[in-house]
Amino acid sequence: MSNGIKIPAIGYGTWKSPDNEVTLEGIKTAVSCGYRHIDTAAVYGNEVSVGKGIAGCSIPREDLFITSKVWNTERGYEKTLAAFEKTIEDIGVSYLDLYLIHWPAAAHKYDDWEEVNRGTWRAMTELYKAGKIRSIGVSNFKPHHLKALMDTEIKPMVNQIEFHPGYMQDETVQYCRENGILVEAWSPLGNGMVLTNPVLMDMGEKYGRSVAQICLRWCLQHEVLPLSKSVTPSRIEENFRIFDFEISSADMAAIDSLGEFGWSGNDPDKVDF
Ligand code: A2P
Repeated sequence: MSNGIKIPAIGYGTWKSPDNEVTLEGIKTAVSCGYRHIDTAAVYGNEVSVGKGIAGCSIPREDLFITSKVWNTERGYEKTLAAFEKTIEDIGVSYLDLYLIHWPAAAHKYDDWEEVNRGTWRAMTELYKAGKIRSIGVSNFKPHHLKALMDTEIKPMVNQIEFHPGYMQDETVQYCRENGILVEAWSPLGNGMVLTNPVLMDMGEKYGRSVAQICLRWCLQHEVLPLSKSVTPSRIEENFRIFDFEISSADMAAIDSLGEFGWSGNDPDKVDF
């Protein structure tokens, strides 16, 4: 990342993972497969189980990269500071590796959306400088949301966005690249919706890989860090096996040109949560 901190190239995502044994076991399986990067969020409601999973892995805390996110109702300086404390308490750690603003406050809901985001960012910056978070960033920010933060003392190191074949957000990715912001992909499989695309299925056959592996590898080759979510042990393992093959540039271009499909429907400028 732009601050020199290294981040493991694939993350284990936990959106929709329940707050129970399933998530706890999922984390343990992921770590035993080789994942060292775990992504959660306060709003997922599973931080306690994520923390128990982490505690159950016989691996030092400093060898793991743990991300969480401040939820929309907790934006603003004071509330963000309190939300962070609750998150680290729930996970059972003394620091986070990455903390993100989950969604931007946007103009359709807040007249002072820039100020709300700046207040949240001021809290994140303070926690970063105090060493309680090793890196800070945002999620679901479009270029105009990012621009409103770029003259602050510390710039975002990460922007986590929806990114998968069929939904590439070119403008946002381009803006992030130009400004040294690492892009992470949430729902790199389009929440399962892209897995039946015939072109991707043919591609999977050609490379002797699953469609999920094609999607995750495609993210990596775009230098976008995939956060792959599964609670199924065989899939957790399968999704990590993406470092031993390469998609040709012609096939990358073929995937890029597929047009839009599998979009979640969540536009940060329109969501009502
Ligand atoms: P499950 O967790 O039941 O294994 P995304 O990361 O794009 O949001 O997609 C997550 C969804 O894709 C989940 O429903 C997950 O199911 C499913 N999934 C994850 N990995 C695979 C895989 N390798 N093959 C098929 N489905 C997968």
